[in-house]
Amino acid sequence: MKNREIKKIGVLTSGGDSPGMNAAIRAVVRATAYNNLECIGIYRGYQGLIEGDFIPLNARSVKNKINRGGTMLKSARSSLFRTKEGRKIAYQKLIDASVDALVVIGGDGTFTGAKVFNEEFNFPIVGLPGTIDNDINGTDFTIGYDTALNTVVEAIDKIRDTANSHNRLFLVEVMGRNAGDIALSAGIGAGAEAIIIPEQDLGKDYLVSSLRKSKKSGKSSSIVVVSEGDEIGKNIFQVAKYIEENLKEYEVRVTVLGHIQRGGTPSCFDRVLASKLGVAAIDALLEGKKDCMIGIHNSKVVAVPFAKTIQGENEIDRALLRVAEIVSI
Ligand code: F6P
Repeated sequence: MKNREIKKIGVLTSGGDSPGMNAAIRAVVRATAYNNLECIGIYRGYQGLIEGDFIPLNARSVKNKINRGGTMLKSARSSLFRTKEGRKIAYQKLIDASVDALVVIGGDGTFTGAKVFNEEFNFPIVGLPGTIDNDINGTDFTIGYDTALNTVVEAIDKIRDTANSHNRLFLVEVMGRNAGDIALSAGIGAGAEAIIIPEQDLGKDYLVSSLRKSKKSGKSSSIVVVSEGDEIGKNIFQVAKYIEENLKEYEVRVTVLGHIQRGGTPSCFDRVLASKLGVAAIDALLEGKKDCMIGIHNSKVVAVPFAKTIQGENEIDRALLRVAEIVSI
């Protein structure tokens, strides 16, 4: 049964942008038009919501966007929305613009904000997981993660050429905040010698001894993928020095991939995921669902309460750790 109360839906992107956010906005806008509802875009996430920075969107407003990285609605991290006063202003802006429900696209910070907002104002919000980090509980994949993996693998393939030519060891730092998903999957995909993630916290001495072993086994160059959230990632230049001091035979270089991981044309996987979840978000709102994220689990679309998405530690695919160990021998 459709909830007839909902006539106008707002959509925003918040937190770090990710490739595929535009495809998600497009799906939300078109699903809204398909259901004969009005849609407004909110610029710069919760900050734009507080400022009433809105734009009406129709099916044609999102043409030529599916293939674009970044977010056409821009993004921000709003400190004002973390205050009760800021959220009160945001609520009034929604009422003034006759917005009945919201779709928020972002990561755990975005969902934390949505949860509190719903608690305070009982306002229908559903979320879509948009972050390269893949660190949201309740969804197997986040929008942007696959594209980021492809970007990392492409970059490391290039690094491998030069590493091999000079018999060098490269420490490649990747994003992910406190989650090791990008490092683990991209590390396997790029054929890394070792993968350093915060979920394992192996330490620099373990790394040195494993590199010593692989040198003995005949490897002449090496790629180590390091997650920025690991202690080694936080001190990557010092660790490079430490390795050179303890393994004289290695010449070490560091590459920090940084924000190139957030940009670029979204992969087909991310475009399809974003389209699927965007349509499902509008279906969910019309079915009366709220206070939840629409994600994907075992290839099925699922609705997960915001409280669950932000609960506990990031879960890494432990089976992949074993794979990484075996294939890097
Ligand atoms: O959450 C996405 C992400 O790219 C993280 O991987 C990274 O730690 C962070 O955002 C960087 O944030 P900023 O763009 O604000 O420097």
